[in-house]
Amino acid sequence: MRIKHLLPILLSATNVASWGFYGHKTVALLASRYLLPDTAVFVRTYLYKDQTIMDAAVWADRYAHIPLGRYSKTWHYIDAKDDPPRVCEVNYSRDCAVHGSGCIVSALANMTDRIQDDSLPWPARAQALRFILHFLGDIHQPLHTESKLRGGNSIHVKFHHADTNLHTVWDSKIIESARGHPTERNIISFANDLEERIESGLYAEEKDTWRGCLNVSDAEGCGVSWASDSNKLVCEYVLKDEVEGEELSGEYADGAVPLIERMVAMAGYRLAGWLNMIVTGQDGLSGQRVRGNSMEVVSGERVLRDVVDVEIDAQIEEWEKTRMGNFEGIHVQH
Ligand SMILES: *[C@@H]1O[C@H](CO)[C@@H](O)[C@H](O)[C@H]1NC(C)=O
Ligand SMILES: *[C@@H]1O[C@H](CO)[C@@H](O)[C@H](O)[C@H]1NC(C)=O
Ligand SMILES: *[C@@H]1O[C@H](CO)[C@@H](O)[C@H](O)[C@H]1NC(C)=O
Ligand SMILES: [Zn+2]
Repeated sequence: MRIKHLLPILLSATNVASWGFYGHKTVALLASRYLLPDTAVFVRTYLYKDQTIMDAAVWADRYAHIPLGRYSKTWHYIDAKDDPPRVCEVNYSRDCAVHGSGCIVSALANMTDRIQDDSLPWPARAQALRFILHFLGDIHQPLHTESKLRGGNSIHVKFHHADTNLHTVWDSKIIESARGHPTERNIISFANDLEERIESGLYAEEKDTWRGCLNVSDAEGCGVSWASDSNKLVCEYVLKDEVEGEELSGEYADGAVPLIERMVAMAGYRLAGWLNMIVTGQDGLSGQRVRGNSMEVVSGERVLRDVVDVEIDAQIEEWEKTRMGNFEGIHVQH
């Protein structure tokens, strides 16, 4: 029966349900629509045949949880030690544990170097691509740029009467309540909406300002600049009013939806520009867009699985078996 056939696929889709993943997959799909032809070829070269650009964009959250990848856990955020809602600011030397395990900004710089390093073997460069696809998403989540109360993980709130925390609300609850579950269909429709707004709608006027920093020789500078865009929202909205103990599914969520959608759009647009710069030296975002290669870039070319990745996959599989319920990305992070 047809339904029976579909079931395993549906189950695996709910396993990865979360914003974390909603945001990341939408960012990657949106970016794929702005890749220059040479960039699309490059991306396909560094993805496996069964791996879509959207899957690749969520890999880093799983990797961070397994023994082989645990060292990368701090790479998903930068802990701005500012004082919201009064003062919001990201200061690289203060906030990035550069002499420890690093932060999202130092990791982005590292991976931007590594993806361009011809002397590295294929799996290392493929890994660098997966990290970059992921980091551009995380750096646009305001609570991934804030140290206060562990990025909101320690702020207890309610959402539709259920107990949760502020970080989770921003990672997944708000966007899911606005756009449904992160099924492939909903992700495509989210990316379509954002693309339309960039091309001729709400973001058409401002999109040029999003290209302000796309200098791959200054990944730290651009990383800090993007993190600052997100961090600004912490003062302007996320922690503007006291939220501890509050029910956030009403007015608060309604006000947050346009902010989150704009950040996801910005992330996808910048991701495309970043990859285009890496591959071609042009951001590819001005002038006439080359359309129609997005479906081609959605999955990769590499058939033979590398031995490093076989080992990583085995650990991820093992780790997923031990988890009850849904994996929702890295929430408890600080
Ligand atoms: C960033 O933090 C460092 C170390 O705390 C401090 O010396 C520096 O003045 C700060 N930079 C800015 C631009 O505030
Ligand atoms: C850069 O990434 C590699 C590979 O993940 C890692 O081994 C190395 O420690 C990183 N370097 C820095 C400075 O973070
Ligand atoms: C890019 O960054 C490098 C390193 O900071 C700098 O030397 C160069 O002038 C920058 N290029 C542009 C176009 O801003
Ligand atoms: Zn992450």
